[in-house]
Amino acid sequence: MKAVVLCAGLGTRLRPLTFSTAKHLIPVANKPVLFYGLESLVEVGVREIGIVVSHESRPVIQNAVDDGSRWGAVVTYIEQHKPQGLAHACACAESFVAGEPFIMYLGDNLLPDGLRAPVELFQKTGANAVVLLKEVDDPTRFGIAEIHGDRIVRLVEKPKEPPSNLAIVGGYIFDRNIFESIRRIKPSWRGEYEITDAIQDLVSRGLLVVPYIVSGWWKDTGKPEDILDANRVVLEGMHSAIEGQVDTNSELDGTVIIAPGAEVVDSRIRGPVIIGSHARVYHAELGPYTSLGDRVHVIRSTVRNSVVMEDSVIENFPTPLRDSLIGRRVILRGHAGAVGIRLLLGDYCEVETGT
Ligand code: DAU
Repeated sequence: MKAVVLCAGLGTRLRPLTFSTAKHLIPVANKPVLFYGLESLVEVGVREIGIVVSHESRPVIQNAVDDGSRWGAVVTYIEQHKPQGLAHACACAESFVAGEPFIMYLGDNLLPDGLRAPVELFQKTGANAVVLLKEVDDPTRFGIAEIHGDRIVRLVEKPKEPPSNLAIVGGYIFDRNIFESIRRIKPSWRGEYEITDAIQDLVSRGLLVVPYIVSGWWKDTGKPEDILDANRVVLEGMHSAIEGQVDTNSELDGTVIIAPGAEVVDSRIRGPVIIGSHARVYHAELGPYTSLGDRVHVIRSTVRNSVVMEDSVIENFPTPLRDSLIGRRVILRGHAGAVGIRLLLGDYCEVETGT
Protein backbone atom coordinates (compact mmCIF):
# COMPACT_ATOMS: atom_id res chain seq x y z
CA MET A 1 0.00 0.00 0.00
CA LYS A 2 1.21 3.53 -0.86
CA ALA A 3 0.43 6.81 0.90
CA VAL A 4 -0.36 10.32 -0.22
CA VAL A 5 0.29 13.03 2.37
CA LEU A 6 -1.26 16.44 1.74
CA CYS A 7 1.03 19.35 2.57
CA ALA A 8 0.01 22.08 0.13
CA GLY A 9 -2.38 24.81 1.33
CA LEU A 10 -1.35 28.10 2.85
CA GLY A 11 -1.64 27.79 6.64
CA THR A 12 -2.92 31.36 6.93
CA ARG A 13 -4.33 30.78 10.43
CA LEU A 14 -0.79 30.13 11.67
CA ARG A 15 0.74 33.35 10.39
CA PRO A 16 3.33 34.75 11.00
CA LEU A 17 4.94 31.31 11.61
CA THR A 18 3.87 30.08 8.17
CA PHE A 19 5.63 32.97 6.40
CA SER A 20 8.92 31.16 6.93
CA THR A 21 7.83 27.54 7.30
CA ALA A 22 4.95 25.22 6.42
CA LYS A 23 2.34 24.57 9.12
CA HIS A 24 3.21 20.88 8.81
CA LEU A 25 6.67 21.59 10.20
CA ILE A 26 5.61 23.42 13.36
CA PRO A 27 7.01 21.37 16.24
CA VAL A 28 4.87 19.59 18.78
CA ALA A 29 7.01 18.35 21.69
CA ASN A 30 10.04 19.30 19.56
CA LYS A 31 9.05 17.19 16.53
CA PRO A 32 7.39 18.57 13.37
CA VAL A 33 3.70 17.64 13.15
CA LEU A 34 4.27 15.97 9.77
CA PHE A 35 6.87 13.57 11.18
CA TYR A 36 4.25 11.97 13.46
CA GLY A 37 2.18 11.17 10.36
CA LEU A 38 5.16 9.79 8.43
CA GLU A 39 6.01 7.56 11.40
CA SER A 40 2.48 6.13 11.53
CA LEU A 41 2.56 5.37 7.80
CA VAL A 42 5.88 3.56 8.04
CA GLU A 43 4.59 1.68 11.10
CA VAL A 44 1.86 0.03 8.97
CA GLY A 45 4.37 -1.00 6.33
CA VAL A 46 4.01 1.85 3.82
CA ARG A 47 7.30 2.51 2.07
CA GLU A 48 6.31 4.63 -0.93
CA ILE A 49 5.02 8.01 0.17
CA GLY A 50 3.94 10.82 -2.16
CA ILE A 51 3.90 14.23 -0.47
CA VAL A 52 1.69 16.80 -2.19
CA VAL A 53 3.32 20.21 -1.79
CA SER A 54 2.68 23.71 -3.06
CA HIS A 55 5.31 25.78 -4.80
CA GLU A 56 5.80 27.64 -1.48
CA SER A 57 5.84 24.63 0.87
CA ARG A 58 8.05 22.47 -1.35
CA PRO A 59 11.50 23.82 -0.39
CA VAL A 60 10.93 23.74 3.39
CA ILE A 61 9.21 20.36 3.39
CA GLN A 62 11.80 18.82 1.08
CA ASN A 63 14.57 20.25 3.23
CA ALA A 64 13.07 18.68 6.39
CA VAL A 65 11.93 15.32 5.02
CA ASP A 66 14.48 14.83 2.26
CA ASP A 67 14.18 11.47 0.46
CA GLY A 68 12.48 9.75 3.43
CA SER A 69 15.36 7.35 4.00
CA ARG A 70 15.48 8.41 7.67
CA TRP A 71 12.23 6.46 8.05
CA GLY A 72 13.20 3.72 5.64
CA ALA A 73 10.72 5.17 3.12
CA VAL A 74 10.99 6.56 -0.39
CA VAL A 75 9.39 9.99 -0.70
CA THR A 76 8.22 11.49 -4.00
CA TYR A 77 7.23 15.18 -4.11
CA ILE A 78 4.14 16.01 -6.13
CA GLU A 79 3.42 19.67 -6.81
CA GLN A 80 -0.12 21.04 -6.65
CA HIS A 81 -0.01 24.37 -8.46
CA LYS A 82 -2.98 25.96 -6.67
CA PRO A 83 -4.66 24.83 -3.42
CA GLN A 84 -7.93 23.86 -5.11
CA GLY A 85 -9.09 21.45 -2.46
CA LEU A 86 -8.31 18.05 -0.99
CA ALA A 87 -9.84 16.14 -3.92
CA HIS A 88 -7.77 18.18 -6.36
CA ALA A 89 -4.62 17.48 -4.29
CA CYS A 90 -5.46 13.78 -4.31
CA ALA A 91 -5.96 13.81 -8.09
CA CYS A 92 -2.46 15.29 -8.49
CA ALA A 93 -1.15 11.99 -7.04
CA GLU A 94 -3.06 9.68 -9.42
CA SER A 95 -0.07 8.65 -11.50
CA PHE A 96 2.08 8.19 -8.38
CA VAL A 97 -0.54 5.84 -6.89
CA ALA A 98 -0.70 3.88 -10.17
CA GLY A 99 -3.88 1.94 -9.41
CA GLU A 100 -2.83 0.66 -5.96
CA PRO A 101 -4.88 1.17 -2.80
CA PHE A 102 -3.48 4.04 -0.76
CA ILE A 103 -3.76 5.92 2.51
CA MET A 104 -4.48 9.63 2.16
CA TYR A 105 -3.23 11.51 5.19
CA LEU A 106 -3.59 15.23 5.97
CA GLY A 107 -0.10 16.40 6.89
CA ASP A 108 -1.32 18.80 9.58
CA ASN A 109 -3.28 16.17 11.50
CA LEU A 110 -2.14 14.17 14.51
CA LEU A 111 -3.58 10.69 15.02
CA PRO A 112 -1.45 9.06 17.70
CA ASP A 113 -3.45 5.81 17.72
CA GLY A 114 -1.86 5.04 14.37
CA LEU A 115 -3.33 3.47 11.26
CA ARG A 116 -3.04 -0.27 11.87
CA ALA A 117 -6.69 -0.88 12.74
CA PRO A 118 -8.13 1.12 9.79
CA VAL A 119 -5.75 -0.62 7.36
CA GLU A 120 -6.88 -4.02 8.72
CA LEU A 121 -10.51 -2.94 8.36
CA PHE A 122 -9.91 -1.95 4.73
CA GLN A 123 -8.35 -5.35 4.03
CA LYS A 124 -10.94 -7.37 5.97
CA THR A 125 -14.03 -5.69 4.52
CA GLY A 126 -12.73 -5.33 0.95
CA ALA A 127 -14.13 -1.78 1.13
CA ASN A 128 -13.59 0.75 -1.64
CA ALA A 129 -12.88 3.35 1.03
CA VAL A 130 -12.37 3.53 4.78
CA VAL A 131 -12.88 6.96 6.34
CA LEU A 132 -11.53 7.76 9.81
CA LEU A 133 -14.09 9.50 12.01
CA LYS A 134 -14.21 10.93 15.50
CA GLU A 135 -17.02 12.40 17.59
CA VAL A 136 -16.59 16.16 18.04
CA ASP A 137 -18.39 18.94 19.93
CA ASP A 138 -18.29 21.42 17.03
CA PRO A 139 -19.35 19.46 13.90
CA THR A 140 -19.84 22.59 11.74
CA ARG A 141 -16.02 22.96 11.47
CA PHE A 142 -15.41 19.61 9.75
CA GLY A 143 -16.54 17.18 7.12
CA ILE A 144 -19.31 15.11 8.76
CA ALA A 145 -20.43 11.55 8.07
CA GLU A 146 -23.72 9.83 8.73
CA ILE A 147 -23.46 6.11 9.28
CA HIS A 148 -25.95 3.30 9.05
CA GLY A 149 -24.81 -0.04 10.45
CA ASP A 150 -21.29 -0.58 9.22
CA ARG A 151 -21.48 1.75 6.21
CA ILE A 152 -21.22 5.47 5.64
CA VAL A 153 -24.43 6.59 3.93
CA ARG A 154 -23.91 10.35 3.63
CA LEU A 155 -21.14 12.90 3.93
CA VAL A 156 -21.27 16.71 4.05
CA GLU A 157 -18.41 19.21 4.24
CA LYS A 158 -18.70 21.74 7.11
CA PRO A 159 -22.52 21.55 7.30
CA LYS A 160 -24.61 24.34 8.87
CA GLU A 161 -26.97 21.64 10.15
CA PRO A 162 -24.80 18.61 10.87
CA PRO A 163 -26.48 15.22 10.39
CA SER A 164 -24.24 13.77 13.15
CA ASN A 165 -21.27 14.74 15.30
CA LEU A 166 -18.90 12.30 13.54
CA ALA A 167 -16.14 14.40 12.01
CA ILE A 168 -13.91 13.19 9.21
CA VAL A 169 -10.42 13.20 10.67
CA GLY A 170 -7.28 13.44 8.58
CA GLY A 171 -7.06 9.84 7.36
CA TYR A 172 -8.69 7.96 4.48
CA ILE A 173 -7.93 4.70 2.68
CA PHE A 174 -9.01 4.50 -0.96
CA ASP A 175 -8.91 2.11 -3.86
CA ARG A 176 -8.63 3.38 -7.44
CA ASN A 177 -12.37 4.25 -7.66
CA ILE A 178 -11.80 7.54 -5.85
CA PHE A 179 -10.17 9.06 -8.95
CA GLU A 180 -13.28 8.45 -11.08
CA SER A 181 -15.40 10.09 -8.35
CA ILE A 182 -13.04 13.09 -8.17
CA ARG A 183 -13.55 13.59 -11.90
CA ARG A 184 -17.32 13.63 -11.37
CA ILE A 185 -17.53 16.35 -8.68
CA LYS A 186 -17.89 20.13 -9.03
CA PRO A 187 -16.25 22.79 -6.81
CA SER A 188 -18.08 23.51 -3.54
CA TRP A 189 -19.45 26.88 -2.37
CA ARG A 190 -15.91 27.72 -1.14
CA GLY A 191 -14.52 27.03 -4.61
CA GLU A 192 -12.68 23.83 -3.64
CA TYR A 193 -12.87 20.28 -4.94
CA GLU A 194 -13.83 18.58 -1.68
CA ILE A 195 -12.72 15.02 -0.95
CA THR A 196 -15.91 14.76 1.12
CA ASP A 197 -17.98 15.26 -2.08
CA ALA A 198 -15.87 12.67 -3.91
CA ILE A 199 -16.50 10.12 -1.14
CA GLN A 200 -20.22 10.98 -1.28
CA ASP A 201 -20.00 10.16 -4.98
CA LEU A 202 -18.51 6.73 -4.12
CA VAL A 203 -21.54 6.16 -1.84
CA SER A 204 -23.96 7.32 -4.57
CA ARG A 205 -22.32 4.90 -7.02
CA GLY A 206 -23.16 2.08 -4.58
CA LEU A 207 -19.54 1.42 -3.63
CA LEU A 208 -18.65 0.27 -0.12
CA VAL A 209 -17.51 3.13 2.16
CA VAL A 210 -16.80 1.96 5.71
CA PRO A 211 -16.31 4.11 8.84
CA TYR A 212 -13.49 3.64 11.29
CA ILE A 213 -14.14 5.47 14.55
CA VAL A 214 -10.94 6.66 16.20
CA SER A 215 -11.02 5.92 19.92
CA GLY A 216 -8.04 7.99 21.10
CA TRP A 217 -7.49 11.68 20.57
CA TRP A 218 -7.05 13.46 17.27
CA LYS A 219 -5.99 16.97 16.46
CA ASP A 220 -6.12 19.14 13.36
CA THR A 221 -3.28 21.59 14.06
CA GLY A 222 -4.56 24.44 11.91
CA LYS A 223 -4.64 27.15 14.61
CA PRO A 224 -2.22 28.32 17.34
CA GLU A 225 -4.40 26.97 20.17
CA ASP A 226 -4.48 23.56 18.41
CA ILE A 227 -0.66 23.45 18.44
CA LEU A 228 -0.61 24.22 22.17
CA ASP A 229 -3.31 21.57 22.83
CA ALA A 230 -1.39 18.98 20.82
CA ASN A 231 1.83 19.93 22.59
CA ARG A 232 0.14 19.34 25.96
CA VAL A 233 -1.26 15.94 25.00
CA VAL A 234 1.94 14.66 23.37
CA LEU A 235 4.08 15.83 26.31
CA GLU A 236 1.73 14.11 28.73
CA GLY A 237 2.38 10.78 27.03
CA MET A 238 6.19 11.06 27.22
CA HIS A 239 8.64 9.67 29.78
CA SER A 240 11.42 11.51 31.60
CA ALA A 241 14.89 11.33 30.10
CA ILE A 242 17.67 13.54 31.42
CA GLU A 243 20.63 13.53 29.06
CA GLY A 244 21.75 17.13 29.52
CA GLN A 245 23.31 18.72 32.61
CA VAL A 246 21.23 19.78 35.64
CA ASP A 247 22.93 21.49 38.59
CA THR A 248 22.09 20.73 42.22
CA ASN A 249 20.28 24.05 42.73
CA SER A 250 17.65 23.12 40.16
CA GLU A 251 14.38 21.37 40.98
CA LEU A 252 12.71 18.99 38.54
CA ASP A 253 9.18 17.79 39.03
CA GLY A 254 7.02 15.51 36.83
CA THR A 255 8.00 14.37 33.32
CA VAL A 256 11.07 16.24 32.13
CA ILE A 257 13.07 15.49 28.99
CA ILE A 258 16.41 17.22 28.62
CA ALA A 259 18.31 16.54 25.40
CA PRO A 260 22.09 16.06 25.28
CA GLY A 261 24.17 19.21 25.52
CA ALA A 262 21.40 21.20 27.24
CA GLU A 263 22.16 22.89 30.55
CA VAL A 264 19.79 23.70 33.44
CA VAL A 265 21.17 25.89 36.21
CA ASP A 266 19.37 27.16 39.33
CA SER A 267 15.95 26.66 37.74
CA ARG A 268 12.54 25.15 38.56
CA ILE A 269 11.13 22.83 35.91
CA ARG A 270 7.59 21.64 36.41
CA GLY A 271 6.85 18.88 33.89
CA PRO A 272 5.76 17.91 31.45
CA VAL A 273 8.54 19.86 29.78
CA ILE A 274 10.94 19.08 26.93
CA ILE A 275 14.21 20.96 26.48
CA GLY A 276 16.07 20.64 23.18
CA SER A 277 19.75 19.99 22.68
CA HIS A 278 22.23 22.73 23.62
CA ALA A 279 19.45 24.82 25.19
CA ARG A 280 20.38 26.98 28.21
CA VAL A 281 17.95 27.40 31.11
CA TYR A 282 19.47 29.64 33.78
CA HIS A 283 17.68 30.99 36.90
CA ALA A 284 14.37 30.30 35.15
CA GLU A 285 10.98 28.72 35.71
CA LEU A 286 9.55 26.41 33.08
CA GLY A 287 6.33 24.52 32.69
CA PRO A 288 4.08 22.83 32.88
CA TYR A 289 3.45 21.93 29.20
CA THR A 290 6.40 23.69 27.67
CA SER A 291 8.66 22.74 24.75
CA LEU A 292 11.94 24.53 24.15
CA GLY A 293 13.61 23.79 20.83
CA ASP A 294 17.32 23.21 20.26
CA ARG A 295 19.65 26.01 21.37
CA VAL A 296 16.87 28.08 23.01
CA HIS A 297 18.04 30.25 25.91
CA VAL A 298 15.70 31.04 28.81
CA ILE A 299 17.46 33.21 31.35
CA ARG A 300 15.84 34.77 34.46
CA SER A 301 12.41 34.33 32.88
CA THR A 302 9.30 32.17 33.26
CA VAL A 303 7.67 30.20 30.43
CA ARG A 304 4.49 28.16 30.84
CA ASN A 305 2.25 26.21 28.43
CA SER A 306 4.23 27.33 25.39
CA VAL A 307 6.21 26.20 22.38
CA VAL A 308 9.48 28.04 21.77
CA MET A 309 11.29 27.09 18.56
CA GLU A 310 15.00 26.76 17.87
CA ASP A 311 17.56 29.46 18.61
CA SER A 312 15.20 31.86 20.38
CA VAL A 313 16.29 33.82 23.44
CA ILE A 314 14.11 34.85 26.39
CA GLU A 315 16.20 36.79 28.82
CA ASN A 316 15.27 38.86 31.92
CA PHE A 317 11.72 39.03 30.62
CA PRO A 318 9.75 40.93 33.27
CA THR A 319 6.50 38.99 33.03
CA PRO A 320 5.81 35.23 32.73
CA LEU A 321 5.18 34.02 29.17
CA ARG A 322 2.08 31.84 28.87
CA ASP A 323 0.12 30.14 26.09
CA SER A 324 2.67 31.39 23.57
CA LEU A 325 3.95 30.10 20.25
CA ILE A 326 7.34 31.59 19.53
CA GLY A 327 9.12 31.05 16.22
CA ARG A 328 12.81 30.63 15.45
CA ARG A 329 15.52 33.19 16.36
CA VAL A 330 13.09 35.40 18.28
CA ILE A 331 14.61 37.63 20.97
CA LEU A 332 12.61 38.68 24.04
CA ARG A 333 14.92 40.59 26.33
CA GLY A 334 14.17 42.75 29.37
CA HIS A 335 16.41 45.36 31.00
CA ALA A 336 16.47 46.47 34.66
CA GLY A 337 14.68 49.80 35.17
CA ALA A 338 12.98 49.67 31.75
CA VAL A 339 10.26 52.30 31.33
CA GLY A 340 8.74 51.03 28.12
CA ILE A 341 8.84 48.22 25.58
CA ARG A 342 10.43 48.30 22.15
CA LEU A 343 8.90 45.96 19.58
CA LEU A 344 10.18 44.84 16.22
CA LEU A 345 7.36 42.63 14.95
CA GLY A 346 6.72 41.27 11.48
CA ASP A 347 3.32 41.13 9.81
CA TYR A 348 0.53 39.27 11.63
CA CYS A 349 2.38 39.04 14.97
CA GLU A 350 0.32 39.24 18.14
CA VAL A 351 1.27 40.60 21.56
CA GLU A 352 -1.31 40.36 24.31
CA THR A 353 -1.25 40.66 28.08
CA GLY A 354 -3.18 38.09 30.05
CA THR A 355 -4.50 37.47 33.54
O1 DAU B 1 -8.88 18.21 9.68
C1 DAU B 1 -9.95 17.45 9.21
C2 DAU B 1 -10.72 18.21 8.15
O2 DAU B 1 -9.78 18.46 7.06
C3 DAU B 1 -11.90 17.37 7.62
O3 DAU B 1 -12.90 17.23 8.62
C4 DAU B 1 -12.54 18.04 6.41
O4 DAU B 1 -13.53 17.21 5.87
C5 DAU B 1 -11.47 18.29 5.33
O5 DAU B 1 -12.02 19.00 4.24
C6 DAU B 1 -10.31 19.09 5.91
O6 DAU B 1 -10.78 20.40 6.24
P1 DAU B 1 -9.83 21.67 6.45
O7 DAU B 1 -10.58 22.90 6.03
O8 DAU B 1 -9.32 21.64 7.85
O9 DAU B 1 -8.64 21.40 5.43
P2 DAU B 1 -7.33 22.25 5.21
O10 DAU B 1 -7.60 23.34 4.23
O11 DAU B 1 -6.76 22.65 6.55
O12 DAU B 1 -6.35 21.20 4.54
C7 DAU B 1 -5.99 20.00 5.15
C8 DAU B 1 -4.60 19.58 4.65
O13 DAU B 1 -4.58 19.42 3.23
C9 DAU B 1 -3.49 20.55 4.98
O14 DAU B 1 -2.34 19.78 5.33
C10 DAU B 1 -3.23 21.30 3.69
C11 DAU B 1 -3.59 20.26 2.65
N1 DAU B 1 -4.17 20.82 1.39
C12 DAU B 1 -5.29 21.60 1.48
C13 DAU B 1 -5.85 22.11 0.34
C14 DAU B 1 -7.12 22.97 0.41
C15 DAU B 1 -3.58 20.53 0.20
O15 DAU B 1 -2.54 19.80 0.15
N2 DAU B 1 -4.12 21.05 -0.95
C16 DAU B 1 -5.24 21.83 -0.94
O16 DAU B 1 -5.71 22.27 -2.02
